[in-house]
Amino acid sequence: MKRRRIVLIGYGAIAADLAARLLAAREPAYDLAVLLGAASPSRERVPFGCALLSDIEGVAAFAPDLVVEAAGHGAIRAHGPACLGLGLPLLVSSIGALHDETLLAQLTDAARAGGGRILLPSGALGALDYVRAVSRAADLALRYESRKPPAAWKDELARLGHDAEHLDSAVTLFTGDARAAAAAYPQNLNVAAALALAGPGFSGVEVAVVCDPAAAGNTHIVEAKSALGTMRIEIANRPSPANPKTSWIVGASLMAAIDQFFSPIQML
Ligand SMILES: NC(=O)c1ccc[n+]([C@@H]2O[C@H](COP(=O)([O-])OP(=O)(O)OC[C@H]3O[C@@H](n4cnc5c(N)ncnc54)[C@H](O)[C@@H]3O)[C@@H](O)[C@H]2O)c1
Repeated sequence: MKRRRIVLIGYGAIAADLAARLLAAREPAYDLAVLLGAASPSRERVPFGCALLSDIEGVAAFAPDLVVEAAGHGAIRAHGPACLGLGLPLLVSSIGALHDETLLAQLTDAARAGGGRILLPSGALGALDYVRAVSRAADLALRYESRKPPAAWKDELARLGHDAEHLDSAVTLFTGDARAAAAAYPQNLNVAAALALAGPGFSGVEVAVVCDPAAAGNTHIVEAKSALGTMRIEIANRPSPANPKTSWIVGASLMAAIDQFFSPIQML
């Protein structure tokens, strides 16, 4: 089977996990390149055999079948429009960046003009297929609650005067809609943005962010109520060993999305 070519943007917790999965894959096998800033300390971690790129010209020259972003909101701003303008499909981890209507319009315009496509994985969450199905249902009420342990919120807790090491009860950090949540917490609230884009839009998702010392991992609760019925799911993800804000499953979710992308069978 033809080898597939993938550019990873970023090489942190998610990209390193994904790269290990891609390099171990055989049907198809993958050739990888990694796009990082010229002075990024992550360059030292990129495994032997992966090309290192510094700019969009390098991406174009590598001629990938797919670009995968796992770098943060700034990377979507910096590289998303150019990749899509080159006609490249772009699998986006930092879905929260799309809360910015101007950036979203810029990305969709670039995709239309260049022939690229913006691909959104389920990431740390699940049940986006159900949310898409009920998105036009009458009286849809969609609620998302994030419950993560204090290790995921050290800086935010310190700003509120709490010590993450000695928190003995839950602290609600945020309540509001998905747009405000994605803007306030770029590293943690990508799943609220995924729900918004699958469902009723950014203003239609009610979000609560709770730091909970009793949380069984990075916990996501989604409730959907509509004329079609009700759904409640609770997912308790283990935090990534390399980044406690990130759920460990995200690398596996991206790998599943890449499998789908290259598969003759599509599960929608
Ligand atoms: N969809 C989801 O469910 C979900 C879940 C967790 C995280 N995320 C997103 O994935 C991102 C990455 O997560 P992580 O845990 O791997 O983070 P990380 O901090 O471990 O790694 C980030 C990497 O991106 C690189 N980077 C940053 N800005 C860049 C840029 N402009 N160009 C190129 N590289 C750049 C950094 O050098 C680093 O290598 C998060 O910021 C978040 O937006 C999405």
